[in-house]
Amino acid sequence: MKLNVGFLASHGGSNFQAIVDAIKSGKLSAVASCVISNNSKAFVRERAEKENIPFYHISGKTHPNPEDHDKAIIDAFKHHDVNIVCLAGYMKKLSDTVLNEFHGRVLNIHPALLPKFGGKGMYGINVHKAVIESGEKTSGVTVHLVDSKYDRGRILAQTKVPVEKDDTPEDLADRVLTAEHQIYWQTLVKIEKGEIQL
Ligand code: GRF
Repeated sequence: MKLNVGFLASHGGSNFQAIVDAIKSGKLSAVASCVISNNSKAFVRERAEKENIPFYHISGKTHPNPEDHDKAIIDAFKHHDVNIVCLAGYMKKLSDTVLNEFHGRVLNIHPALLPKFGGKGMYGINVHKAVIESGEKTSGVTVHLVDSKYDRGRILAQTKVPVEKDDTPEDLADRVLTAEHQIYWQTLVKIEKGEIQL
């Protein structure tokens, strides 16, 4: 089945861009259908506009009523025939309504080897600080399904990234992000080929 990917992103969108680039170079035969962000000023907006991919700002400000908010997300994705949702640095928790609508087809990328370093507070630089503080020699990336327990959904793919001596959290974050930019589109290729079943 051809993947029509809908994205949810809150910030820079480098993972969104990596998937778009994989599509443009023919490595992945999916369609990047649209991007939804809760942040109207997110850089991902510029990226989407540059790529001519529809962008929607849907947030608690644009839709104060939670039911309207969820409906706006679902309607936008349905309008674009989205059949798989990729969270790419989306900082808002998805409601059960949205998760149920795309049940088993919502993916997230996490910058560590889940189940370690996941859960509450484990986002952004906090993850890499925690990895370094714990003395781990290896970190990595996880692509997983999102269910209502968040970082606990089925793991679809992982890749390891070394933690180097004297790494700052920022050094580690950069190395992990480079790996993120490969594993997300590669996981979509496997889903498209049926090598990973959702
Ligand atoms: C990535 O580190 C991803 O693992 C996490 O949020 C970050 C998003 O980065 N979920 P970007 O916006 O894709 O550049």
